[in-house]
Amino acid sequence: MTDPGERLRSSLAADSPPAGVEFDSPIAMEAMRATRVLHANEQEPFPAPGRIRVITIANQKGGVGKTTSTVNLGVALSLFGLRVLVIDLDPQGNTSTALGVDHSVGTPSIYDALVGESTLAEVTHPTTASPDLRCIPATIDLAGAEIELVSVVAREHRLRRAIETHLHALPAEERPHYVLIDCPPSLGLLTLNALVAGDEVLIPIQCEYYALEGLGQLLSNIELVRAHLNPGISVSTILLTMYDGRTKLADQVADEVRNHFGDLVLSSVIPRNVRVSEAPGYGQSVLTYDPGSRGSTSYVEAARELALRGVDLEPLVPVQPTPAVAAAPPAAHPLSALVLGETVASVRSGPQENS
Ligand SMILES: Nc1ncnc2c1ncn2[C@@H]1O[C@H](COP(=O)(O)OP(=O)(O)O)[C@@H](O)[C@H]1O
Ligand SMILES: [Mg+2]
Repeated sequence: MTDPGERLRSSLAADSPPAGVEFDSPIAMEAMRATRVLHANEQEPFPAPGRIRVITIANQKGGVGKTTSTVNLGVALSLFGLRVLVIDLDPQGNTSTALGVDHSVGTPSIYDALVGESTLAEVTHPTTASPDLRCIPATIDLAGAEIELVSVVAREHRLRRAIETHLHALPAEERPHYVLIDCPPSLGLLTLNALVAGDEVLIPIQCEYYALEGLGQLLSNIELVRAHLNPGISVSTILLTMYDGRTKLADQVADEVRNHFGDLVLSSVIPRNVRVSEAPGYGQSVLTYDPGSRGSTSYVEAARELALRGVDLEPLVPVQPTPAVAAAPPAAHPLSALVLGETVASVRSGPQENS
């Protein structure tokens, strides 16, 4: 096959370059990768999970890729045939921005479901990325929720109950396969609600110095939640983000994380890629902004791995919406005391770290 045009066309149609064919230009390679993402609906869809997966994306450090991973994994899963609901639980609303969803004050948002009485259906918005991807945005009102929730009955269970009620009310064919919850960079009541609501925690870890600092505190909080509030929660997935292959440090951090967490770490690693950081400025995921970029294809691969790991999950015993429980006296609850201590401290010390 000598005609370069024909060679490129047949390679684009194939899953990988035909044997013996080498791409002689990076642009051809990128075009091939872009085609695979752009024509995701013509490719093998990702397998549906054995049960609805409610995944909390948490790490109390800011800037480690929680929001970026929530958005891009969500878009990838939905482009490859799965229904996804993304819940933005960070008052900064970066996830909403990246999905092109309005989050100005007054927009029906997760605040109205957590603090008010709205159902999740009433605060769910469509996205332009995919008809299968829906988003519950966060408005700045949510910043006050950490304090407003303190006096609310069953305050740690608000999100779980809202999700359970929502999933029960939806017809089966409209139920999301994945619910992804993006947490703020703190261990306050919002993150606590997300840990009580989820069945799995996905922790993004940035391949940088200090990457593991603070992880112990996150893991011990997850243990506390498991012991007292949500026996079903566990860390299922670690995703290495912002990997820079030119530095030894990135490899050292990746090795350390793999030694520590073993199979929990996805083998797909997200490289540091400028297209990833540009995309939110256009209200887009990197998959729609620059489908052929390394950032885009690595998120598709990570999402594929995540989906494959979900296939064998056993269905949960159908959960009934958690009955209303009387609020425990705050001081009697070790976790509440811990979390509230931090919440009050972080509110007093001004705005949280920018993410
Ligand atoms: N793979 C990547 N390559 C380049 N920049 C990235 C990548 N992932 C995230 N970023 C950028 O890093 C910053 C922090 O990421 P973000 O997802 O907002 O972190 P978090 O939600 O944990 O605070 C953002 O500006 C984002 O665009
Ligand atoms: Mg964020």
